Amino acid sequence: MDTLLETAELRNELELPEKDARHVLHPWADLQALGKQQALVMNSAKGVRVRDTEGKSYLDAIGGMWCMTVGYGCEELADAIGEQARKMAYYTAFGDVSSEPAAMLAETLAELSPGDLNRVHFTTGGSTAVESAVRTAHYYFSAQGKPEKRHVLSRVNAYHGGTYLTQSLSGKAADRTHFHYETEFVHHLSSPGHDPDRDSISAEGRLKELLEEMEAEIRRLGPENVACFVAEPILASGGVLTPPDGYQKATFDLCRKYDILYVSDEVVTGFGRLGHFFASETRFGIIPDMIVTAKGITSGYQPLGALLVSDRIAESVSDAAPADKPVFSNGFTYSGHPVACAAALTNIKIMKRDDICGHVQDVGPYFISRLRELLSSSIVYTVRGDHLMACVECWTGEEAGPNAQNMALAARVDAYCQEAGLLVRPYENLCILSPPLVISRSEIDEIVAILENALTRAAEDLAAGKI
Ligand SMILES: Cc1ncc(COP(=O)(O)O)c(C=O)c1O
Repeated sequence: MDTLLETAELRNELELPEKDARHVLHPWADLQALGKQQALVMNSAKGVRVRDTEGKSYLDAIGGMWCMTVGYGCEELADAIGEQARKMAYYTAFGDVSSEPAAMLAETLAELSPGDLNRVHFTTGGSTAVESAVRTAHYYFSAQGKPEKRHVLSRVNAYHGGTYLTQSLSGKAADRTHFHYETEFVHHLSSPGHDPDRDSISAEGRLKELLEEMEAEIRRLGPENVACFVAEPILASGGVLTPPDGYQKATFDLCRKYDILYVSDEVVTGFGRLGHFFASETRFGIIPDMIVTAKGITSGYQPLGALLVSDRIAESVSDAAPADKPVFSNGFTYSGHPVACAAALTNIKIMKRDDICGHVQDVGPYFISRLRELLSSSIVYTVRGDHLMACVECWTGEEAGPNAQNMALAARVDAYCQEAGLLVRPYENLCILSPPLVISRSEIDEIVAILENALTRAAEDLAAGKI
């Protein structure tokens, strides 16, 4: 490459943060900083590391956005994507048309999923899959002559996506601003997280409270009016909140008791993050009516989501469809996108061949136990997590929770981590971690060492009144 061209390209790259600041409205952008804040523009990645346009490398402990499983720069995945793009980049999946990768992936997902979840409705990502689940529940009951059975139960601190309905289902207080939300048929139960290190109530006591509340809410609404319960097995974006043992099974049983469909949102917990392709049955002992998956299904290499529906629901919906209008009017231009499905097939092949789930079962407990060493820091309130999803919660030592001081403290920790080449996801007073599943023990040690140092520096700033 000649020097002139190299300089021009370099200049172009250095201007990228400015172009971005001028023109992009980012998801979850800080509106007060709109146009002023320069984004970290990433442009290459390999393994567990990403590199920005200035050449600085970071260990990506966020795993993209919970989605990186087999690691960045996987040639095999890139080849599969390129091959399918060259062979047939796109064809619709509407009506009675399909593509080879979509049909093959549907069969593979049916094999990987528990019980009779054998019917796959492809979507463009997690939000569209969750929204499709709720619409399927509505169709299911409406077709049985019960259109009033349409209310949906969710939880405070849940995150189910960014569309109108999935944002309405989400229960993160920080996200509720000037947007509008569906409030007529969406209802939030309490946040189900239980922290054995910090909560004064026992796990059994908390479980009892949560179940009593859920049953009371079902009775208040009238079981004949409640269509489904949408639940992440572990609440991810809400702060890696783990319910007390037995919660998933007991809430599932309550749903069965009142003929309410159980939708397990495995957008984060699926595809290996807890050491299994799907966690619902293997970890939590339930075979839901529907499972939602996305993110790790392609290792983030292509956007794709899927709603897995039980045969029981699919057959009922099909049997009850009116003869003059038997259409399942839900889906997207990019549903079953052949390139995305090809990426997912190869991703699953790699995950199986390299036993990525086994690897997570091996390093997951190490990750959590190493992170728990950080509890010795005066500014760590708690460390919680499960396998490769975790969270370090910061506090000044006074009042726990997302108050201004605690959030400023966590932001300082994040900034020091970033300076030292580690990306953790800042959310309120939490540093959230969900590294690529191929992470090694030495890379885990690196994460912990950088975090430890960042916590020490932030604690010193706090003591010096600099926060
Ligand atoms: C549990 C859960 N459900 C759904 C979604 C929405 O997925 P997407 O952003 O692919 O639409 C997310 C995204 O973070 C999620 O964490």
